[in-house]
Amino acid sequence: ATPHTLVNATSDSRYIDYRKLHKKLDEVRYVLGKRIRLTLAEKILYSHLHNVEESLLSNTHNGNQIRGNATLKLKPDRVAMQDASAQMALLQFMSCGLPSTAVPTSIHCDHMIVGERGADVDLPASITGNKEVFDFLESAAKKYGIEFWPPGAGIIHQTVLENYAAPGLMMLGTDSHTPNAGGLGAIAIGVGGADAVDAMVDAPWELKAPRILGVKLEGQLEGWAAPKDVILKLAGLLTVRGGTGFIIEYFGPGVETLSCTGMATICNMGAEVGATTSVFPTTKEMYSYLHKTHRGRLTSILGNYHAVGAGPADKVLFHSDPGAEYDEVITIDLSTLEPHINGPFTPDLSTPLSKFKDAVKVNKWPESFGASLIGSCTNSSFEDMTRAEDLVKQASAAGLKPKADFFITPGSEQIRATLARENTLETFSSAGGIVLANACGPCIGQWQRTDGVSKGETNAIFTSYNRNFKGRNDGNPSTMNFLASPEIVTAMSYAGSTTFNPLIDTLQTPSGTPFQFSPPEGSAQPEEAFAQGDPKFAPTPAIPDASHPVIISPTSSRLAILEPFAPFPQGELEGLRVLYKVKGQCTTDTISAAGPWLKYKGHLPNISANTLIGALNAETGETNVAYDHFDSSAPDNNPPKSSIPDLAQKWKTEGKEWLVVAESNYGEGSAREHAALQPRYLGARIILAKSFARIHETNLKKQGIVPLVFENEGDYEEIAAGDVVSTVGLWDMLNAGGSGDGRRARCTPNPAPGHRYGQYITQPTLFKTACPSLGFPTIASP
Ligand code: F3S
Repeated sequence: ATPHTLVNATSDSRYIDYRKLHKKLDEVRYVLGKRIRLTLAEKILYSHLHNVEESLLSNTHNGNQIRGNATLKLKPDRVAMQDASAQMALLQFMSCGLPSTAVPTSIHCDHMIVGERGADVDLPASITGNKEVFDFLESAAKKYGIEFWPPGAGIIHQTVLENYAAPGLMMLGTDSHTPNAGGLGAIAIGVGGADAVDAMVDAPWELKAPRILGVKLEGQLEGWAAPKDVILKLAGLLTVRGGTGFIIEYFGPGVETLSCTGMATICNMGAEVGATTSVFPTTKEMYSYLHKTHRGRLTSILGNYHAVGAGPADKVLFHSDPGAEYDEVITIDLSTLEPHINGPFTPDLSTPLSKFKDAVKVNKWPESFGASLIGSCTNSSFEDMTRAEDLVKQASAAGLKPKADFFITPGSEQIRATLARENTLETFSSAGGIVLANACGPCIGQWQRTDGVSKGETNAIFTSYNRNFKGRNDGNPSTMNFLASPEIVTAMSYAGSTTFNPLIDTLQTPSGTPFQFSPPEGSAQPEEAFAQGDPKFAPTPAIPDASHPVIISPTSSRLAILEPFAPFPQGELEGLRVLYKVKGQCTTDTISAAGPWLKYKGHLPNISANTLIGALNAETGETNVAYDHFDSSAPDNNPPKSSIPDLAQKWKTEGKEWLVVAESNYGEGSAREHAALQPRYLGARIILAKSFARIHETNLKKQGIVPLVFENEGDYEEIAAGDVVSTVGLWDMLNAGGSGDGRRARCTPNPAPGHRYGQYITQPTLFKTACPSLGFPTIASP
């Protein structure tokens, strides 16, 4: 077969149609002019546009100033979902009534596996404890032709890197660290479940065209410095918000010196600076990694297009055009980069290792620590593990054992089996290390600590993970998680002291002699191809089977079929009651709390019992206390009070639809779609706020709740719980496709004396949904 036949073999869902992408790129150049110079990120994004002209010319000055202005309508190549977020995404997808997903999709069971005593014990226990959720995910995967990676198969991002990521790919993943695949030249973006459903039903997925931040890498890493240190340093420079609205694109001579998995680590943690995603240009290391991960066929396809005689450089999809400009550029010299340690409690508190001892003293951080954890989706590559192994061998030869508990999390069955084959895991185990299941475990709070640290007790840990917010690892908000490379985390474990600097300090061996580590050495990849591991962890094939039942017990408390919401009325929204007037900040956590509620993510009725429980009542100063002004059995001046979700549920039962009034940036925080689904389920039709957080506003629209903002913010003072609101002109606006005139809605006469009419204006775009059955009018049909 010629490469083109392979590329177009639709039966093989793991390959990309590069010919189609290049054709689209030609169209982009035609629309923007032959002389346009595009960055790599732009090339990949724009070659996935649904409609080139519509996206690139709308909201721009005739194709100029696209970045930050244009609304891109994109058709991603594939979708990946982890087990926690996949539940609601699948339930929404099921409501669309389609026989299979429109793009190749995969599910990865990684977030619900506990880490405690080791994979052999932990994995079966977690499978038993979450059986009904795993059964549901697997059965839905079989029905709709989704590849299902069972518990123990690996962490979503490592599995994607090993199996799906490829230069030029564009994918969505329902997890923030999806950008990990940028280490293999892909544009991979973390999204909420409803966005993933857009792609799964073949509706264009919308993204405000990002600006491009160029990071130029010079020199070559040496000694202790690792790829992780690039992003730890960059996080310190940019802070947790510095990448917002940007794609980070790496370039420069240093890029060719990095391993493919090292580049993935760097892209993975781009999420920590708020970047839309991160990407590297195609390098020789990527080809080699593709070969070793059994995807040599892809390299021959790529070879047709890649630099080796592929034609004019500006036509190639895998590098930026010569002369392409970045909005900002940061330069990092790898040769002089020193290891960094970031934290505690925020990934952008970055301290060079040489200054960390002083920082510990000045900040009065604990001087001893109890656990070192390496691996996770961020740092479990062959390179990471063999460099850590080298340090363990050095210490073992000197008769040393780790003083802190030492945990190792392989990112996938493939990497675990390879490390087992090469005796790396044996080296860790012999030194007292505990090898956990191939899953998220301690990285996402699924860590049963057995070292006696109690909740609230201040303590420190060192991890090679990516996030260190309070309570993330063990549920203890007083645990300080210091992020570093796996090499530094491993070496530190032998000291158990936060002030130890393995580059210059010595340890005392049992015989009393001083021991100093030599800089770690390892291999980017194994000599042979990666081992494929235990076949029981292989994915189900991507073949839909309409006859396969989706397993959800009708008595389940964790899963419930998503019933279609009531259809949108063929006209204005009338007689809506103000349920609650929120004062101050209202995040997605305020609207849909996490913690113990996470187990109900697949059960909308049950999780809806947490709706708005963190919201402050603007009129009484109480939290989660609402008053039923429409209870005709109660005296006018003494409306009965209840919790917000209880009143919402009561009104739902009585058929009363409602709205919430709020202040600025309503729905900020994580992209949690439950914060939109739950109010919709309970009967909300409108959220009326001074302003909205962008992602939440989109989520509301996708679930059929109309976000309105005050034309005059002062009108917030004029409206109160118990008022009645109807829209005027909303239906015209919806019928106009969300643009043009008629974008106004206003209050009807207000029952409360002293209140006056308010005038509210809707957001003009995006009134559509991927799932018509959710009850919103289908303005732009998928
Ligand atoms: Fe899992 Fe932690 Fe990565 S939760 S996906 S290992 S960031």
